Amino acid sequence: MYVLALRVWQFRNYEQAQLEFSPQLNIFVGANAQGKTNLLEALYYLSTLRPLRPVRESDLVRWGATETRLSVRFVREELTDELQLRLPLQTKRQVWLNGEPVSRQSSLVGYLGTVCFTAQDLQIVRGEPADRRRFLDTEIALLSHRYLYSLAHYKRALEQRNNLLRAYQEGIGTLDSLPEWNAQLVKYGARLFHSRKQFLERLTHSAQGVHSALTGEQERLELLYQPGLPIGTTLLEKEEDWHEAFVQALHQAERDEVRRATTLVGPHRDDFAIQIGGYDARLFGSQGQQRTCALSLRLSEVPLFESIKGEPPVVLLDDVFSDLDPERRARLVAFLQPRAQTLITCTDLTPFSPELIAQSAIFHVSAGSVQRDERA
Ligand SMILES: Nc1ncnc2c1ncn2[C@@H]1O[C@H](COP(=O)(O)OP(=O)(O)OP(=O)(O)O)[C@@H](O)[C@H]1O
Ligand SMILES: [Mg+2]
Repeated sequence: MYVLALRVWQFRNYEQAQLEFSPQLNIFVGANAQGKTNLLEALYYLSTLRPLRPVRESDLVRWGATETRLSVRFVREELTDELQLRLPLQTKRQVWLNGEPVSRQSSLVGYLGTVCFTAQDLQIVRGEPADRRRFLDTEIALLSHRYLYSLAHYKRALEQRNNLLRAYQEGIGTLDSLPEWNAQLVKYGARLFHSRKQFLERLTHSAQGVHSALTGEQERLELLYQPGLPIGTTLLEKEEDWHEAFVQALHQAERDEVRRATTLVGPHRDDFAIQIGGYDARLFGSQGQQRTCALSLRLSEVPLFESIKGEPPVVLLDDVFSDLDPERRARLVAFLQPRAQTLITCTDLTPFSPELIAQSAIFHVSAGSVQRDERA
């Protein structure tokens, strides 16, 4: 999959811009706050229908404008598709695929496949368990609609169960419906445990390959699932086993849960450890090692996506080179090229070798305007 051309109108700091890409490496260079990340965000938004950064969708509309419009042409399964999007401030978002209006917009999520690394991804390594669960959830959801469905039902059951426990503690409710919510919690929770365990095995394999490529086989990455159940380090194989273990754990925790008015066991307490050569990368990794781990985890989506869809996604790398030494930078580029179309933002071209610059499309970004360097 690769993007041929992008047009934006009134998007972030762009009044209007039009770009044609190389199917291989594209480098966006410019000073801070000129609009480099905004360009990646335009593609990310067309791919996921979500902003790249945690803002409201309406924040994507250029300040002072009443709507934004985007249009992208890309090659998918060897055919050219065109996706157009209009986001007015006053009414709903509209999307067209090859000129036809799309009514179920959620079906278009991932139609243009992208994998995006931003500085925010460092939180997968450095952040809280919730950051890692979010990473797992988005990755698994890419592969399985059933997972998304189970996750939504689990969250609802958890919320209802916690409301019930709170109401009971405040003396304004009974525990009569607790068994019902337990049943829901366990049904969907067991699926989440099972899927996350299986997915982490797959992810480990894929991320190990990337990590070993980025470190020149110097470091070995391990991911260890730590489920939110008191089952020690033994991981269960079947969904029924997770079901059983969850039922037991809930039973054991019930008195505590009633006292503390919250659910203490379940996949909402999951985490996974990230180890390099046997030690915890979060606690002992250097800046560069942590960044490399985060990159390996995010980029593991590339081979996963390829194995499922039969073609690589478009790779968006926002400001990825800070903290990586020249060797790791070179290995990163070698891992991605010519495998997948890649778009990289950076503040200057020094990290790139003259050969690479000669092979790439270079775009200069300045105050919401983009110029492709025609000499390159
Ligand atoms: N809705 C909007 N309307 C107008 N300008 C906006 C809007 N949203 C963001 N901006 C501006 O866009 C500018 C460029 O943002 P962007 O994140 O793309 O910069 P960048 O080139 O990636 O910079 P850096 O190198 O610092 O990451 C910012 O200064 C921001 O204030
Ligand atoms: Mg930026």
